[in-house]
Amino acid sequence: MNYRNFVVNALADVLEGQLEKDTINKTIEKPKSLALGDYAFPTFPLAKILKKAPQIIASEIAAKIDHKEFDKVQAVGPYINFFLNKKKYSDSILRQILVEGSAYGNQNLGDNGNVPIDMSSPNIAKPISMGHLRSTVIGNSIAKLLAKTNYHPIKINHLGDWGTQFGKLIEAYKLWGSEEEVKADPINKLLEYYVRFHKEDVEHPELDDEARAWFKRLEDGDPEAVSLWKWFRSESLKSFMKIYNKLGVKFDSFNGEAFYNDKMDEVVTLLEQKDLLQESRGAQIVDLSKYNLNPALIKKTDGATLYITRDLAAAIYRKRTYSFVQSLYVVGNEQTNHFKQLKAVLKELGEEWSDDIHHIPFGLITQGGKKLSTRAGRVILLDEVLDDAVQLAEQQIEEKNPDLKDKETVAKQVGVGAVIFHDLKNERMNNFDFNLEEVVRFEGETGPYVQYSHARAMSILRKAKAQNAGEVPEPDYQLSDEESWEVLRLLGSFSAIIKRAVEEYEPSVIAKYSLHLAKSFNKYYAHTKVLKEDAQLSARLALVESVAIVLKESLRLLGVQAPEEM
Ligand code: ARG
Repeated sequence: MNYRNFVVNALADVLEGQLEKDTINKTIEKPKSLALGDYAFPTFPLAKILKKAPQIIASEIAAKIDHKEFDKVQAVGPYINFFLNKKKYSDSILRQILVEGSAYGNQNLGDNGNVPIDMSSPNIAKPISMGHLRSTVIGNSIAKLLAKTNYHPIKINHLGDWGTQFGKLIEAYKLWGSEEEVKADPINKLLEYYVRFHKEDVEHPELDDEARAWFKRLEDGDPEAVSLWKWFRSESLKSFMKIYNKLGVKFDSFNGEAFYNDKMDEVVTLLEQKDLLQESRGAQIVDLSKYNLNPALIKKTDGATLYITRDLAAAIYRKRTYSFVQSLYVVGNEQTNHFKQLKAVLKELGEEWSDDIHHIPFGLITQGGKKLSTRAGRVILLDEVLDDAVQLAEQQIEEKNPDLKDKETVAKQVGVGAVIFHDLKNERMNNFDFNLEEVVRFEGETGPYVQYSHARAMSILRKAKAQNAGEVPEPDYQLSDEESWEVLRLLGSFSAIIKRAVEEYEPSVIAKYSLHLAKSFNKYYAHTKVLKEDAQLSARLALVESVAIVLKESLRLLGVQAPEEM
């Protein structure tokens, strides 16, 4: 039910065509404070038409409004303030949530259209970094939001398992590595070789030539190069899977860059047929000056293909395989130019669906204000962050609720949830600084705070059940006090919030909403004796249960679990 429509219809009845319904809808505002009502209509647009002062128009219209749906309609200066009928509203919202359960907020925006989401996509032989965490959790949440609005998301991990860095890694391994070392501690050792390579090639530029030669051998299928590459890949993937399991993120495909090796010739042929390839100092490029972009480098002098060549093959492959309605790439904002080039080259190829490709960029995670960098060896290791977060959560639980059953599981849900939530509560384009203690706090704007609010609601419901409270046969869900009204208004806006989050590809909308709901629920709880035996007991319990349902569903949409007790 869209309560805004009550206001639109009531105004339209009075205005008798002087303003279009659509215009009325757009003019309606949500006042900053509930004291000014639930909706407000500024009469300025009417002043011109009616040639009267807005204040006068406001009081004239307010007097004529049909009051069925409203507790009060009040002219204040040039505004008409509408106060929804609280009893009617609370009853219908609470009934709807209790009936629909976790399906509350579901809506059809996508007609089940396919949406591949390129997400996480870490690079083989390097540890998965905090930057990849962002892509993973943002992508995962967008996938859940898409499913909730009836799209069909397909989560693709476009592993960085090909490229010149493998030449460097093989060279480094041949120089300084040993099989035993790698087997004992694959990711850290491979990283160590890689970092050392970048230190030493400053003084020994011949290392770069060697690395290039190794990569060429890899592309040509040299058995030694290929078997080293396969080994590095499988060891890396094993360690990535451990992290994905901790995060609870699953993928539909692990087709990485190497998957497209045999699909690039076609791309090059297509570009040639359209006469788009130009030679520039021995390399093959596509000129994109008419898009105000640098040329896209398709093939190097030595014939080696590039990142964008593989992305072109991947984009075409995804269109053919999924016939998508949108194709998303959750990748850091430093790659904005790359995705502009990708779209532009596809446009040049005449692929109009290039417009359905969306780069979903995000900002950097810094530490102590400094940029992280694998090459400089300045990394926050996600695996360690998750373990540390779980440990901190354990300590907190030990302090606050030492008798909790299944502490270990709850600590995992809280620690991991805290890391995910902290990432998603920031608008994705914002850079943010990482500080673990802050992430795992039970108070303030944190995941544990929302989880805790949900657990509190669940514990009230358990208590009620134990007392057989609220089992009135004909429940009456009419709440009209101020504290419950704030909660009810938030519950009622869940669908609109989901719509906004999915349209903006912005999980932070959900995270902020859940904080807001948790806060107003806690305020409600501080003011209200929920379990008092009176006529409104079942209504209050319906409110508490609705809050639990919507908080849990909000957390689920973020990829965060909601323990029943904590
Ligand atoms: N592996 C790349 C990186 O870590 C991200 C790949 C993003 N996806 C893509 N289709 N280009 O920077």
